[in-house]
Amino acid sequence: MQQDIVLIKLGGSVVTHKERPMTINKPAIDRIIKSLLSVKVPIMLVHGGGSFGHYWSTKYDLHSKPERYSSEGIAVVHESMISLNHILVKSMLKLKMNPYSVPPFSLILGNKPFMKKIFQLASMTKDKIIPITYGDIVYRTYHKYSILSGDELMTMISSVLRPKKVIFAINVDGIYKNIQAKDVVQTIEDRAPIKFSEVNFDITGGMKRKVREAFKISLAGMDVHFVNGFKPERLLKIIENKKTEGTVIKGKRPSTGNA
Ligand code: IPE
Repeated sequence: MQQDIVLIKLGGSVVTHKERPMTINKPAIDRIIKSLLSVKVPIMLVHGGGSFGHYWSTKYDLHSKPERYSSEGIAVVHESMISLNHILVKSMLKLKMNPYSVPPFSLILGNKPFMKKIFQLASMTKDKIIPITYGDIVYRTYHKYSILSGDELMTMISSVLRPKKVIFAINVDGIYKNIQAKDVVQTIEDRAPIKFSEVNFDITGGMKRKVREAFKISLAGMDVHFVNGFKPERLLKIIENKKTEGTVIKGKRPSTGNA
């Protein structure tokens, strides 16, 4: 059943300065969080790692493939994500937004979403609480760990809750058709199943991963929006169903049999 929830991913390149280790983008955080104050529908947040999690994952060679990794690396990456999360939580608390931080480890069982817990997050939003989780290094199975990205969490949470809106706040205006010309694709229709290799947009590795997750969500029937997180007024317009700059990947509609 579709939940009356807006699920938003705050990209690591919005909330941190990606090129500067362990550096937050305080004005961007404050602006985007403040803009959410005016949202009347329940919100759930996910954030990325940016120059916190990604920096340490690279240092300690931790990846998204389940492996036995350095225990010190696991501890350090996890701590870096907690500290970034804490900064976001504090910024929300200051505005009395009732954030409730949830480590992603408590939302999975091995490789699967822990459905019961994810449904509980939806219940919490009815109590005017804003659950906030984040990409992290997580235990998978048999002493193997892997990076669970915020993008994958978006897919996982969407598959369980089917939020009314799924939005990725990124550091550019949308998905570019031509990266040099900064030519934003407004709509990607998703009537037929799309194989990622068939999509000939010029996107960076990081963006590619996000788009791949977004396609998974759209194939399950939900529209997925990409919007510039440095322009929170656009994010608000998406929530209010108003036209704005950005990209929407249209959710696959059930076939009518006429195709
Ligand atoms: C990464 O999460 C988390 C860690 C590296 C621990 P994401 O992959 O979602 O982060 P961003 O948004 O791309 O920075």
